[in-house]
Amino acid sequence: TTETDHTLRTPIVAVLGHVDHGKTSLLDRIRGSAVTAGESGAITQHIGATAVPLSVISEIAGELVDPTDFDLPGLLFIDTPGHHSFSTLRSRGGALADIAILVVDVNDGFQPQTLEAIDILKRTQTPFIVAANKIDTVPGWNPNENQPVQATMDAQSDRVTSDLNEKLYEIIGELSDNGFSADMYWRVQDFQANIGVVPVSAETGEGVPDLLTVMMGLSQRYMKEEMEIDASGPGVGTVLEVKDTRGFGTTLDAIVYDGTIRADDTIVVGGLQGPIVTDVRALLRPRPLEEIRTEQEFEQVDEVAAADGVKIAAPDLDDAMAGAPIRVIRDRDRDEVVAEVQEELAEIAVTTEDEGVVVKADTLGSLEAISSTLEEEEIPIMRAEVGAVAPRDVRVAETANEPTHEAILAFSVEVLDDARDLAEQEDVKLFEDDVIYQLIERYDDHVTGIEE
Ligand code: GTP
Ligand code: MG
Repeated sequence: TTETDHTLRTPIVAVLGHVDHGKTSLLDRIRGSAVTAGESGAITQHIGATAVPLSVISEIAGELVDPTDFDLPGLLFIDTPGHHSFSTLRSRGGALADIAILVVDVNDGFQPQTLEAIDILKRTQTPFIVAANKIDTVPGWNPNENQPVQATMDAQSDRVTSDLNEKLYEIIGELSDNGFSADMYWRVQDFQANIGVVPVSAETGEGVPDLLTVMMGLSQRYMKEEMEIDASGPGVGTVLEVKDTRGFGTTLDAIVYDGTIRADDTIVVGGLQGPIVTDVRALLRPRPLEEIRTEQEFEQVDEVAAADGVKIAAPDLDDAMAGAPIRVIRDRDRDEVVAEVQEELAEIAVTTEDEGVVVKADTLGSLEAISSTLEEEEIPIMRAEVGAVAPRDVRVAETANEPTHEAILAFSVEVLDDARDLAEQEDVKLFEDDVIYQLIERYDDHVTGIEE
């Protein structure tokens, strides 16, 4: 335990935004550009995460990046499907992501999930930049594959440039309406005080060099100290998803953000009924794309070091929660580690009262986000849990004294058929949505309806 091994870990970059605005395409493009740059082997596609080493970033960014200016090892991008809550991306004391890219379709502008992303970035004080995506769709656009923004803007007609600028200023205006001072990224001096907007196209790769340069510069400048970790210490991570994996039963897709996790470690994971102590059975990584046709989808690895994504197979994971902490015990005291996880779970636990509404959510992070919004609106909560809406939730909601509280707010979770029937029968109102503020807005409208 005396040996420490201080290194700088890879900053974790969350890619957020409304459905179809191009998050996955942007990451695909970065992977594709690496292939073009002859670096295909260097980029690794992990569980829910893409690791891009500095050498590749500098290759793609060309003259924009001088690799000797950096000592961070690269960037780890986490893709978050728009229909799914990215508030899973939590860690002790805030956001799992060190930094974020908010992807906005230049034609579509700000949409519900863009606003939700902004709210969460604000709440967790995560620094971010905006990728104004799909610039190639501006009518008359003259594409310049993989070119930096300035070069491709110079190659456009005045009409096209002015059309694009109009769209970009709309985005800057939306950011300002939401309390952020923003400007084109090349005019931003202080990225902590101002949000930089980077015009990009995931389709043509235009602006991707700029995007990577800005992210790398931002991390190096503002995050470096936070990236110092004990690289070989017992690992700490967050559960992204709990799911069945053929041949391995219930597994965890996780991001390790400190230390290492080994295939023979014992871990403590946050579960519905409290901490779960279990022995890792296997650490799994997807095989590289070119190998995926082979008989097995995953390969087993002996160790994973922060920051990285991994699939963990272990017994007794059925109760594990998305957004919950994972801690490796290794040579530490088992009870102490269990207590840490317990404490962390208690921090997340929402304050509930004897009277109020019932909240069900898909992850701990979304539960946290909804609860804090309800708290701001002074709406009390009687029960807040991760998981599907079950008949017992209806039974709880039914006991509320205030008619406005006989309600279940369900965020991105399934409603079991018998629960739906029972709610109908008992006149408990059921609100379902996968955008937090829309969910709460619906409930508010209902309350206004009752009060009038
Ligand atoms: P979800 O994961 O569902 O939230 O969507 P996403 O944000 O990952 O969007 P995705 O990358 O799947 O892109 C949605 C659609 O937009 C696809 O049809 C893409 O081909 C298209 N698209 C994405 N980026 C661009 C772009 O820069 N230009 C053009 N023309 N199309 C794009
Ligand atoms: Mg996607």
